[in-house]
Formats: sequence, C-alpha cells, structure tokens
Amino acid sequence: MSIDYSHIAQEAKSLIEAVSDRKSLEEARIKYLGRKGVLQEFMSKIPEISPEQRRAYGAGLNDLKNSISGWLDEKERAMLASLSQDGAYIDLSLPGKKPLLGRRHPLMQVEAEICGIFQKLGFKVFEGPEIETEHNNFEALNIPLEHPSRDAFDTFYIKSPQSTVHSPQKNEKSENHGPSTMDRRLLRSHTSPSQIRAMKVAKPPMAVVMPGRVYRPDAVDASHSFMFHQIEGIAIDENMRFSDLKGVLIAFAREMFDKNARLRFRPSFFPFTEPSAEVDVSCIICSGKGCSVCKKSGWVEILGCGMIHPHVLKSGGCDAKKWRGLAFGMGVERVAMLKYGINDIRLFFENDVRFLEQF
Ligand code: PHE
Repeated sequence: MSIDYSHIAQEAKSLIEAVSDRKSLEEARIKYLGRKGVLQEFMSKIPEISPEQRRAYGAGLNDLKNSISGWLDEKERAMLASLSQDGAYIDLSLPGKKPLLGRRHPLMQVEAEICGIFQKLGFKVFEGPEIETEHNNFEALNIPLEHPSRDAFDTFYIKSPQSTVHSPQKNEKSENHGPSTMDRRLLRSHTSPSQIRAMKVAKPPMAVVMPGRVYRPDAVDASHSFMFHQIEGIAIDENMRFSDLKGVLIAFAREMFDKNARLRFRPSFFPFTEPSAEVDVSCIICSGKGCSVCKKSGWVEILGCGMIHPHVLKSGGCDAKKWRGLAFGMGVERVAMLKYGINDIRLFFENDVRFLEQF
C-alpha cells in the first residue's frame, strides 16, 4: 500500500492557507490530526503493511504529520498577530486583568452602620449643611459670644456672597460688626447645629440622627484632623428622661461593639445640654483589662451627651415647658478606630489603597 504524501500535503497546505477564522482552523486541525482524521486513518492501516514497507510508511506519515501541524501552528500565530496593531504576539490564553472595583470608604461604612443601628431604634436620618450660620453653630446652642470656641482662630469663617468677611477678634463684640450671626457663615465645628434645623423641620415627638463632616483648625496628628465626621442624635418627647438616653446609648454600644460592652457616664459640661455627660465604652481591644488603645485605663471616650437645654429647644421652636429631649454626638473616626484597632486617624484621609482595600 502506498500513499501519495505530496498530494495530501499539498491539499492540506492550501486548505490551511485559505482558512480565515479560528473555527475553520480548528476544523482543519480535526480533519487532518483529529482522532478520526486523515492521518489517523492511515495509521490504523499499519498492521496491514508488510513488515519491510512498514518503516518507510510510518516515517512518511510522521513527516506529513509534522508538516501539517507546523502549518497549522504557523497559521494560528499569523492570525493572532494580525489581532494586535503592532504585530506583537498576543497570548489569548493569559488570564485577563481584573478591573479594580471601588468600594465604600471605611468611614462611610461605619457611618452607615451607626445610622443603621439608630434607625432600628426608630431614629430618622437627617443631614444639615457643612456651611452653617454662626447663629446655629453657637448662639442657638446656648454658646455665648465670649465662649472660647467662637474665637476666630478656633473656627473657619467663610466669606460668602450673602455676608462680608468676618473674623471676630478676641474680646471684640461681634454685634458691632457688619451682618448678624444669622447671616455670617462658617464651616460648622460640630454637628449640633443640625439639631436646630431638625427641630424646625420635624416637630416633636421626634428622633433623628444627623451624620456629617465637621471642621476645626486643629493641627493634624495621629488623633487630630482639621476635618472629621460626627453623628449627632436627638430624641424629643414629653417624658424623655436621662435613663432613656442611657438606654439608647447602651443599646447602640452593644450592637456596634460587643454584646457585653459596658458604658461609663462621666458628668461633664456642654452649653447645649443640662445635665451633660461624656461617655466611655469598655475597651473592645482588651475588654477593659488595659492596653495601649485605652492607655491602660480600660475605657475609651466615644461621645458627649446630655438632656437638651431648654434654651436650645426654644431656638428650635419647641415649647420647652412641654418637651424634653436627649442629645448625643459622637466622632465617626473614633468609633471606626476603636472598632478596627486603627491607631492613626490620618490613614482615613491619605487614600492609600492598601489601607482602604482592607475594609
Ligand atoms: N457637639 C459636641 C462636640 O462636638 C458633642 C455633643 C453633642 C455633646 C450633643 C452633647 C450633646 O463635642
């Protein structure tokens, strides 16, 4: 039995050359080199060949197979090269580059988590503006003119179209200068002015949390930033009591940190609450045993709170004889740092993907 090798080779070569897509190339490969292909059929005839001819028969088949698979590979390379503009070989079998998916910033995740817990307790979410009137930031909150936090150097005042630039100097009576505190604007130094806005839009009984950015001219270090986030909360009803404040905050801490979290209320002072307290949570890093995060005290301060001062209720348009309210304000960075054991606030704002990716 003899085979016309050159005829088959010729035929295969022109078929492969004529191929113009991957599918027909694969069909050509199957036709010649496949399990039921042309070459395999000749192979299966080997037992019928006389032993003297077998060697030459096999060698011829082998040469044919090498030639055909060479032409197929060559064609495949040519097709791939034509896919790229510069003619470089593209390896289509390489895994693709994964697009980098963005995600919520850790602070926004923690903010949403905090608001979510209060929403489950019946609070609504309300947002006040970052540019506030001096009135809402201070006077409406019972913070008198001579209070140090109103010092020009302690607050960012804003030059706005509605108001002339204002930077009251120490010991300067600001009533004597230009527009009233209703018009003068500043970057709010806390979220408490949103209390006034919330009271004006929603009448009691009411419960709202107010997240957002606040600004203070603090030098930036591991625990200070000129901009950070707070969440303010108020609940106003006829019989609101300090025990309600404690109950709400304890429920929050257990949900946020740990079901065994304990809170410590320390008497304190804020002009807009009476009585006032600062609240510490038992350190969630060391469970109160003492570590570097809690500075060996077992407690970490997380918020300020108290019962809304009657003057503040009045500023918000509520009848102070009828209504009582609780209020609290916490730093989101503080909570996030405690929750994740982060020791430097600057990490939140440096936009280092290696840090942000961990959340
Ligand atoms: N506004 C206070 C602060 O920034 C926190 C606070 C809010 C305290 C509400 C009492 C009640 O420090």
